[in-house]
Amino acid sequence: MTLAFGQQMLAIPGPSPAPERVLRAMHRGSPNIYDGELVDMMPDLMDDLRTVARTKHDVALYISNGHGAWEAALSNVFSRGDHVLVLATGRFAQGWREMTEQMGITTDMIDFGTDCPIDPARVVEALNADNGRIKAVLCVHTDTASSVRNDIAALGKAIQSTGHDALFMVDCIASLGCEPFEMDAWGVDVMVTGCQKGLMTPAGMSFVFFGPRAKARAETADCRTGYWNWTPRADPAMFYQRFCGTAPTHHLFGLREALTMLVHEEGVQAAWARHAVLASAVWAAADRWAEGGALRPNVPDRAHRSLAVTTLQLEGYDVEALRQWCETKAGVTLGVGLGLDFTQARGTGLFRIGHMGHLNAHSILGTLACVEAGLKALGIPHGSGGIEAAVTAIAEAVGA
Ligand SMILES: Cc1ncc(COP(=O)(O)O)c(C=O)c1O
Repeated sequence: MTLAFGQQMLAIPGPSPAPERVLRAMHRGSPNIYDGELVDMMPDLMDDLRTVARTKHDVALYISNGHGAWEAALSNVFSRGDHVLVLATGRFAQGWREMTEQMGITTDMIDFGTDCPIDPARVVEALNADNGRIKAVLCVHTDTASSVRNDIAALGKAIQSTGHDALFMVDCIASLGCEPFEMDAWGVDVMVTGCQKGLMTPAGMSFVFFGPRAKARAETADCRTGYWNWTPRADPAMFYQRFCGTAPTHHLFGLREALTMLVHEEGVQAAWARHAVLASAVWAAADRWAEGGALRPNVPDRAHRSLAVTTLQLEGYDVEALRQWCETKAGVTLGVGLGLDFTQARGTGLFRIGHMGHLNAHSILGTLACVEAGLKALGIPHGSGGIEAAVTAIAEAVGA
């Protein structure tokens, strides 16, 4: 039999579940694109995006996914033949590096593996040994494949301590709105993100935030093309220039509603705190399950785990059978594992629980309980009391 009928739960690390309110805000006829509601709402929408990123600087909007944001950011600051340093803690930093190379920019990569964060001391070493060749340092805040979270504040400080003038460029595609992030205070020059994870909007828009040092580099960047050029997008003379053509009208209405929820109703810091508690519930359950010997969180140290996604390793049992059980018997879709190569996606022994965006206590507890039911149904050894531990984590954090 199956118990999958009813509201399906999407527990993957993006796209995250879109709130009904966001979907309703998008459900309308095509609007006037010359003046009126859509055009008038843009200044506040841009301010709200800056509030989420904790920056006073510029933001450019794109009709694209996260890969588009990667390319947009690169094309605005680099010239062919430039050299950058990539710091990798999983598949997504590798992906950004590949795109960088495809644009004719040379990369050096320091690979920190897939279960621990970037070590700022090694970055300092690399920059101190450099003779002005490295134009930027690229890294990912939360690598969604490994679920390692990097300490961007410490890295920003480390880079500044060297006096090197490399730009600091950070991918917050999986972390913005979920994990604490302070673009200006942490010395980040360029930050890229997408709308479909912490920003709770159906996939299709991305954002590149850039500070004054990056803006100055853009003046001479020869990878810059008319379409990706961030200048008219961030500061348009006419609405039409914001997207170098027709705007993603309905996405903008959806994003407007999502930002109202995140910035004006819940508050960005409260959203970070909610993600921290929900993540702690996932870890409490996972750490108990790990006592059975077959299953364990990919990142051993809680201090280095993402608040938005948890990658789990299953040894000696079929991870796809567990994902299929959760999907077809319980109505919960879990994330596939991603190896270093996307073609390995289903052969890694990994799966992921997404806990980002529009989620609350009952959605996380429901997901965890269904995973535990799947472990039981399939005879996969696991420590008992995972759900009890998750419930306790939530009860203790929330209190009376
Ligand atoms: C950290 C990170 N960077 C980049 C991407 C690529 O984004 P997209 O799939 O929207 O192109 C993702 C997608 O999951 C991601 O999690």
